[in-house]
Amino acid sequence: MAEILVLYYSRGGSVARLARQIARGIGEVPGMSARLRTVPPVAAVTQTSAPPVPDDGAPYVEISDLAECDGIVLGSPTRFGNMAAPVKHFLDGLGAEWVNGTLAGKPAAVFTSTASMHGGQESTLLSMQIPLLHHGCLIVGIPFTEPALSHTTTGGTPYGASHVAGAQDDPQPSDDEAHLARVLGRRVADIAKRLAQ
Ligand SMILES: Cc1cc2nc3c(=O)[nH]c(=O)nc-3n(C[C@H](O)[C@H](O)[C@H](O)COP(=O)(O)O)c2cc1C
Repeated sequence: MAEILVLYYSRGGSVARLARQIARGIGEVPGMSARLRTVPPVAAVTQTSAPPVPDDGAPYVEISDLAECDGIVLGSPTRFGNMAAPVKHFLDGLGAEWVNGTLAGKPAAVFTSTASMHGGQESTLLSMQIPLLHHGCLIVGIPFTEPALSHTTTGGTPYGASHVAGAQDDPQPSDDEAHLARVLGRRVADIAKRLAQ
């Protein structure tokens, strides 16, 4: 059984719910399963840091997860049109893995959630792909052969999976958002499996 790392940060639960849909899609590929992990929040020196393990949800990521998995799907809420600081903080600590090519040649995809429809989903997704390209990942998107990509009135983009949480910050993905998240997970798992053959 090969694994795909689904690594995300989520404060309000929207990105976490998309992560679970992506994990479902990964699990639909025979022989593939998802390893769900989160990054810890970051704190200024004047604040207390997070507990060593999260109170609930997915465990914190360990560096060994990157080497042990055959692909990665990275998720973050949109913060001012970009990824959240905890995700960037984790990525900025991967100098040794960059030198060693730990992620080189592995398929990678991204996902996000915003409050508003045009609040920066695509800029967030594209900016999250940049460090993955530096690591030598093979970026996987969602093709327009997926009909939901053309008719969605909520989230879901060719650059990655997404959710529009709205002004009330509703974490529940729409049917199209959930479907496209599963499609993305399935594609990453399928490509990782083919690359391993
Ligand atoms: C500091 C901050 C900045 C944000 N910036 C944006 C933004 O640029 N565009 C947007 O649509 N939503 C923005 N949001 C809203 C979050 O992206 C949105 O609530 C998201 O669904 C949260 O995901 P989560 O529930 O997984 O934490 C921001 C929220 C915070 C706290």
